[in-house]
Amino acid sequence: MKRDLLDVAALSVEDVTDILDLADRYAGQLEKRSHENDLLKGKVIMTMFFEHSTRTLTSFEMAAKRLGAQVVNWNADMSSLRKGETFTDTIHYLGAMAPDAIIVRHADYGSPGFIADNVDCPVINAGDSWRAHPTQALLDAMTIRQHFGSFDNLTVAIIGDIAHSRVANSNMVLLTKLGIKVRVIAPQVLMPEKLPSGDIEKFTSLKEGLPGADVVMTIRLQKERMDSVLIQSEEAYFHDYGMDPDKLDLAGKHAVAMDPGPFIRNVQISDTLVDDPNRSLILKQGANGVPLRMAVLDRYMNKS
Ligand code: NCD
Repeated sequence: MKRDLLDVAALSVEDVTDILDLADRYAGQLEKRSHENDLLKGKVIMTMFFEHSTRTLTSFEMAAKRLGAQVVNWNADMSSLRKGETFTDTIHYLGAMAPDAIIVRHADYGSPGFIADNVDCPVINAGDSWRAHPTQALLDAMTIRQHFGSFDNLTVAIIGDIAHSRVANSNMVLLTKLGIKVRVIAPQVLMPEKLPSGDIEKFTSLKEGLPGADVVMTIRLQKERMDSVLIQSEEAYFHDYGMDPDKLDLAGKHAVAMDPGPFIRNVQISDTLVDDPNRSLILKQGANGVPLRMAVLDRYMNKS
C-alpha cells in the first residue's frame, strides 16, 4: 500500500478486501459500543476542506476520535488564503507544523497529490474535482458486500450526473476492479465520452438500463461543476431519471437503492424510496462512513 490514499486505482483487490474486512470489524465494535480504542492516541490529524461537506468531514472526524486521535479542522474560509497567500505557501507552512496525517477535499484536479508531494505525512483524499473520492467508493463497496454477502454476480447501475461526479468515477473504477458489472444511465449531456473501463455499459434510459440491476445508485446533479445549465427542468429530470419504488421494480423486486448524499429529494430520488428501510441502503451508507474511515486511518497511519 502506498503512503497516501489518493485514488482507488492504486489499490489492489487484496488492499480493498483488507480495508473492508477491518471496516466490518470496526462496524461490529461500534454496534456493540465496545470500540474503546487508543490506536492513534497522541496523533494529530489535520482536515483541510476547501469544499462543503456533511458526511465526509464529520465521519472522518468521528473515525479519528474513535481511534483516540486529535483533530484540527483547518478552515479555508478563515485562513490567510483570503489575504492573498498562495496555496503552495499555505501547504508548506501547515506541513511544517508536522501533522500526523492530512485529510483533504478540494475542487481542483490533483490537489491531494500536490499536497502529498509537499508534506511528510500520509495524505487521504476526501474528494477532489470530478475525479476521485476513494473513501466514498470504499464505503459503498462495504455497504454492498454487507447487504449481498459478497460481490459475486452483482450488477450496479449508477444513474445521474456521471460526467461531473467523483463518486461515480471512483465507484466505476472500484466496483469493476471487484468483479461487479457496472452500468451507467444518464441523459446524453451528463454522460462522459470516456469511461474508466471498456466493460462499463452506457444507457440513456431507465427502461433499458435498469432490468437485472441489483443495486441502483443515484447521483446528484453537480450543478456547481456545470459550465452552463444542462438540465432545464428538475421535474422533467425526475420524471426521466429520478428513482422511486416503481422504477426500482424495473431493476427487480430484490433491488436496493443507494445514494452517496447529499440527495435532493424528488429530483434524483423520491421521498418514498429514500425513507423505505427495506429498499434503501442510504442511511447504512451514512453509518458505514465512520467504521470505513476508521479502517483507512488505521491502515494508513499505523504503519511501522
Ligand atoms: C459527494 C461529494 O462531495 O463528492 N458527497 C459525499 O461526499 N458523500 C457527492 C455530491 O456532492 O453529490
